[in-house]
Amino acid sequence: MSTCKANFIFPVLFVVFGAALGFLGNADTFRRKVSVELNPGLKPPLALPPEVGLVHVRGLGLNDTLHFLLCNYGAPALLLVHTNSTESEVQVDWPAFLNRSLPGRLRVEPQSSVKYSSALVFTRVWEYDDVNNTADPQQTAESAFYPPYELQNFIWSRLNATFNQSDHTVTLCGGEKTESFLNGTLCLQFSAFESEDRDKPWPSLLHNANSSQLRVWLDGVTPRGNDSRFALEFQTVGESGFEGRVDVHSSIDDEYTPSIFKVSQWVSFPVNQSGVWGYNQWKPVAYRKAEPVFEDATPCKHSRLVSVNQIPQSRLVQAYFTNDSQIHGLNISFGIDKDPIFYSATKYVSWTVLVGMGEPPAESFSTLIIIIMAVGLGTPLVIIIVGGVFVWVRKRMSHSSVYEPIN
Ligand SMILES: *[C@@H]1O[C@H](CO)[C@@H](O)[C@H](O)[C@H]1NC(C)=O
Ligand SMILES: *[C@@H]1O[C@H](CO)[C@@H](O)[C@H](O)[C@H]1NC(C)=O
Ligand SMILES: *[C@@H]1O[C@H](CO)[C@@H](O)[C@H](O)[C@H]1NC(C)=O
Ligand SMILES: *[C@@H]1O[C@H](CO)[C@@H](O)[C@H](O)[C@H]1NC(C)=O
Ligand SMILES: *[C@@H]1O[C@H](CO)[C@@H](O)[C@H](O)[C@H]1NC(C)=O
Ligand SMILES: *[C@@H]1O[C@H](CO)[C@@H](O)[C@H](O)[C@H]1NC(C)=O
Ligand SMILES: *[C@@H]1O[C@H](CO)[C@@H](O)[C@H](O)[C@H]1NC(C)=O
Ligand SMILES: *[C@@H]1O[C@H](CO)[C@@H](O)[C@H](O)[C@H]1NC(C)=O
Ligand SMILES: *[C@@H]1O[C@H](CO)[C@@H](O)[C@H](O)[C@H]1NC(C)=O
Ligand SMILES: *[C@@H]1O[C@H](CO)[C@@H](O)[C@H](O)[C@H]1NC(C)=O
Ligand SMILES: *[C@@H]1O[C@H](CO)[C@@H](O)[C@H](O)[C@H]1NC(C)=O
Ligand SMILES: *[C@@H]1O[C@H](CO)[C@@H](O)[C@H](O)[C@H]1NC(C)=O
Repeated sequence: MSTCKANFIFPVLFVVFGAALGFLGNADTFRRKVSVELNPGLKPPLALPPEVGLVHVRGLGLNDTLHFLLCNYGAPALLLVHTNSTESEVQVDWPAFLNRSLPGRLRVEPQSSVKYSSALVFTRVWEYDDVNNTADPQQTAESAFYPPYELQNFIWSRLNATFNQSDHTVTLCGGEKTESFLNGTLCLQFSAFESEDRDKPWPSLLHNANSSQLRVWLDGVTPRGNDSRFALEFQTVGESGFEGRVDVHSSIDDEYTPSIFKVSQWVSFPVNQSGVWGYNQWKPVAYRKAEPVFEDATPCKHSRLVSVNQIPQSRLVQAYFTNDSQIHGLNISFGIDKDPIFYSATKYVSWTVLVGMGEPPAESFSTLIIIIMAVGLGTPLVIIIVGGVFVWVRKRMSHSSVYEPIN
């Protein structure tokens, strides 16, 4: 009977530790060689207005290239282009791009190597007086909204000063000269990655070599209402033949983003085909301080995807996409109903989104959780085994003690 128990236990143990090793073995080793350049191919006497720029990040794989283009000429936008060639190049028709953007002024050549492209554009910052404390723009009367801040009209700091070649980050800060925004800035920090890792600052999203990250923060804006809350509107522009949807996934592990058990992802997939080709992924949390502690986290909510029929006012997007592109928009609103803390308390809110191609990174169980699980599941098993062995040994000994006297 005890051997029967052992025969049962060992496969169970094998499965438990095998699964744990399987999770651990999931580590992604894919790497890209990342390089950054400003205004590719732009030569004097042509010049961009001093505060705008086009940042090109090339992520070179073994037999593919992932191009990221970040531009603040008009509304700030990030364009992602994936090619199946290691030799693909960004080509900008600068005289035309500077004059007026029309499709074809910016291309990735050879065009036959382009497998997927998609852009994310930050269009507006909405502010509303949340007198009913719902933290929900959709439940708020239109009269409670202030005129939105149109990001296409923002004046930006010089790109040059904020360009970090060594850690592949670019920080853009801008604002407008209205009274309420006089002391305010909206900043976007773009990061590209060579391999899988996560940022130290919360929400510590898991990224990989096929993703980039944008951290957005709104600092020092004078609220126009006593109970002002903000929402950020962004749009994505993609090729025709693709559809989008926003999924929300739950997790049991909040080790990297304390108290947040959800991840939202706006995925893009081809019509009539399975598989996700691109994504924007975020955790539904914003932070009220630049260096947040637990109390400074505030939930955020996304609105429904809406179809937009006008291409956003971004030079980059207008120069790349043709008329038949697909445009959708979404609002991220910061705060939760009955939350007594409004924007005025810290005059700061930050939110982070990952932008990438392929399947979005999925959190697997961390080593700590695996150890906890292994101890939690393993200890009773060890007790059962030890108990089983003990019973078996006792039986053998009692058997031998039965036979011994005969000798
Ligand atoms: C890319 O390179 C890898 C490794 O060299 C190879 O396994 C893979 O099939 C290649 N993919 C394509 C699309 O050529
Ligand atoms: C700019 O575009 C307009 C028409 O859109 C054209 O008339 C003009 O010549 C262009 N200027 C330059 C410098 O290319
Ligand atoms: C890239 O894709 C194009 C079109 O799908 C194909 O013709 C070409 O052979 C591919 N190139 C490589 C290097 O796989
Ligand atoms: C507050 O709630 C009342 C009752 O539901 C509604 O009539 C009013 O429009 C709301 N106010 C705002 C600013 O949303
Ligand atoms: C940006 O920095 C580079 C090198 O530091 C310099 O050569 C260039 O003139 C700067 N451009 C602008 C627009 O300030
Ligand atoms: C660029 O990034 C590196 C590594 O994170 C950092 O040490 C350096 O101070 C940064 N440079 C600037 C100008 O911010
Ligand atoms: C901006 O900051 C200055 C100095 O801190 C202050 O005097 C001024 O009142 C602020 N303006 C607004 C609109 O908050
Ligand atoms: C990134 O993209 C490359 C090329 O399509 C693919 O081989 C690799 O598996 C992807 N890595 C991840 C982590 O998605
Ligand atoms: C905002 O608060 C101030 C002081 O608490 C008050 O005087 C003012 O009437 C309030 N404004 C609105 C629009 O409620
Ligand atoms: C998807 O499939 C439907 C019916 O099978 C077809 O009418 C439609 O043209 C297809 N769309 C694309 C983009 O292939
Ligand atoms: C795009 O639309 C504009 C105006 O709606 C039109 O003038 C232009 O010819 C169109 N371009 C293409 C390539 O269809
Ligand atoms: C964002 O919210 C504002 C205010 O409710 C609304 O006017 C706008 O249409 C929304 N944008 C999107 C893309 O849903």
